[in-house]
Amino acid sequence: MRLRFSSILWCYFLCQTLHISNGRILKCCELAREMLRLGTSKSELATWCCIAQFESKFNTSAIGRLNGNWSNDFGLFQVSDRYWCQSKASRSSANLCQINCQQLLTDDIKESVKCAHHVKKLQGWKAWAVYNGRCKNSKLLPSIEECL
Ligand SMILES: *[C@@H]1O[C@H](CO)[C@@H](O)[C@H](O)[C@H]1NC(C)=O
Ligand SMILES: *[C@@H]1O[C@H](CO)[C@@H](O)[C@H](O)[C@H]1NC(C)=O
Repeated sequence: MRLRFSSILWCYFLCQTLHISNGRILKCCELAREMLRLGTSKSELATWCCIAQFESKFNTSAIGRLNGNWSNDFGLFQVSDRYWCQSKASRSSANLCQINCQQLLTDDIKESVKCAHHVKKLQGWKAWAVYNGRCKNSKLLPSIEECL
């Protein structure tokens, strides 16, 4: 009992220090509410929910692999380390969000949301391949009315 308790404590502090986390799995409504609070306009929330659903399955710490190992995609909105964030020093990145990719994987979605807005500002919704296929038609979007 004592041993187990102390190892839980130990992990608690170690994991906190190293920022180890398995990520959060959000629900569409949670994402919509948090994004609204972070300043996202209400009319965009359903589209962001759709993109997060198909890009990361709402997993804040999702890491995707694209084109062999040419690049990786990070976080809820799966932004690429070729253009938007810096992952490892050996991989050159335009780093347009000026951020370390690890910061897009945290439970706190603030940076991930900020970077996604930046992507949209520069490239529009079409930056996400899922947009044209699945998130463009407003009839297919999740309803967020009852979330807010
Ligand atoms: C979320 O993504 C991370 C990184 O890919 C993975 O290790 C973890 O298992 C995922 N969580 C769930 C619940 O799928
Ligand atoms: C990508 O990396 C994984 C794990 O490091 C490796 O098993 C795989 O062969 C690599 N794929 C390509 C296309 O380089």
